[in-house]
Amino acid sequence: MKVLVTGGCGYIGSHTCVELLEAGYEVVVVDNLCNSKKDVIQQIEEITNKKVIFYQGDVCDYALLNKIFAHHEIAAVLHFAGLKAVGESVSQPLRYYRNNIDSTLTLLEVMIKYNCKNIVFSSSATVYGTPKSLPIKEDFPLSTTNPYGSTKLYIEGILKDLYISDNDWNIAILRYFNPIGAHKSGLIGENPNGIPNNLMPYIIKVATGELDYLNIYGNDYDTPDGTGVRDYIHIVDLAKGHIKALDKVLSGSGIDYYNLGTGKGYSVLELVQTFEKVNNVKVPYQVTSRRPGDIAACYADPSYAYDKLGWKAELGIEEMCRDGYNYVIKNK
Ligand code: NAD
Ligand code: UFG
Repeated sequence: MKVLVTGGCGYIGSHTCVELLEAGYEVVVVDNLCNSKKDVIQQIEEITNKKVIFYQGDVCDYALLNKIFAHHEIAAVLHFAGLKAVGESVSQPLRYYRNNIDSTLTLLEVMIKYNCKNIVFSSSATVYGTPKSLPIKEDFPLSTTNPYGSTKLYIEGILKDLYISDNDWNIAILRYFNPIGAHKSGLIGENPNGIPNNLMPYIIKVATGELDYLNIYGNDYDTPDGTGVRDYIHIVDLAKGHIKALDKVLSGSGIDYYNLGTGKGYSVLELVQTFEKVNNVKVPYQVTSRRPGDIAACYADPSYAYDKLGWKAELGIEEMCRDGYNYVIKNK
């Protein structure tokens, strides 16, 4: 059975392609490589010993999507393609709205044309804004504080309206918590260019000496050690969640929403200390002021995904730290 993976060269998409191929799906990827490299396709093929059909192009390109759907009988789409840098979305809101929303609308229109009504969408825990309590459940109130988050919330709304208009659609909306780590092989992972926004890639660049020290954004939060608490999830666990969600969608599940997290929160300091211990490296840091827009703590109640999909995260924080570093060291 063939599935289309938009943004399949990216961090989460590439790991999901590996799991899809290993689960026996045929994989077609479309990616414009705006935040990834084509080599990833070869790496996925090397890990799995299976072929990936790759189209380099934009999901906003209606003609290209038509071509893909005309050539391949696509049973479902996993829609990862999107821009994801929160800060950049504040300075370039129109680029974010254009890219993330236009690509989704184009994709959905072409899916309707080819009568493919099964989709798994990459949403984010960012749609919970400042959560009213912890852990976060799927029925919590939704809000956003930046254009990136708004694109996710709008797309969730578009998908809901689509489902209301036509109950033949099967839609899984996955709200990811904080994916980190890399595939065990060290062939795929995350290593952004320049100065990273996110904590784990930043820690890794300090550990490799590319950056001098980590800035910890605040140690005066209402958390056990004062630093921000997040639900870090191993990227391979997250990727596996997509296979379960896809199976559910293909069984005719209507629309549903799932938190993909571990249910455990770790502070910035705990992550730094674990990283130092398992990799036997030093990560110098200094505490600076809070980053605007950050919340104190965020972690999932992942029990709904377990009840409905039979999925739960298996890998711990040590494996996340070890595998994330291993990827960067191997590819230096
Ligand atoms: P990523 O940037 O590594 O991957 C996204 C991929 O999509 C890239 O390969 C990029 O080149 C491609 N892309 C972007 N716009 C495109 C377009 N218009 N046409 C074709 N390709 C396009 O990001 P990721 O971390 O793998 O995230 C995947 C999805 O998950 C995104 O939608 C992101 O918003 C969402 N998400 C990510 C996180 C996270 O922490 N990484 C958290 C929550 C949600
Ligand atoms: N942090 C630092 N120093 C850094 C970077 C981050 O102290 O250099 C802290 C933050 O203040 C926060 C924690 O580390 O307490 C995690 O920050 P990240 O930037 O790694 O992750 P966020 O939780 O802020 O956001 C990420 C994605 C969002 C997504 C969200 C939930 O960037 O797009 O996870 O999935 F919505």
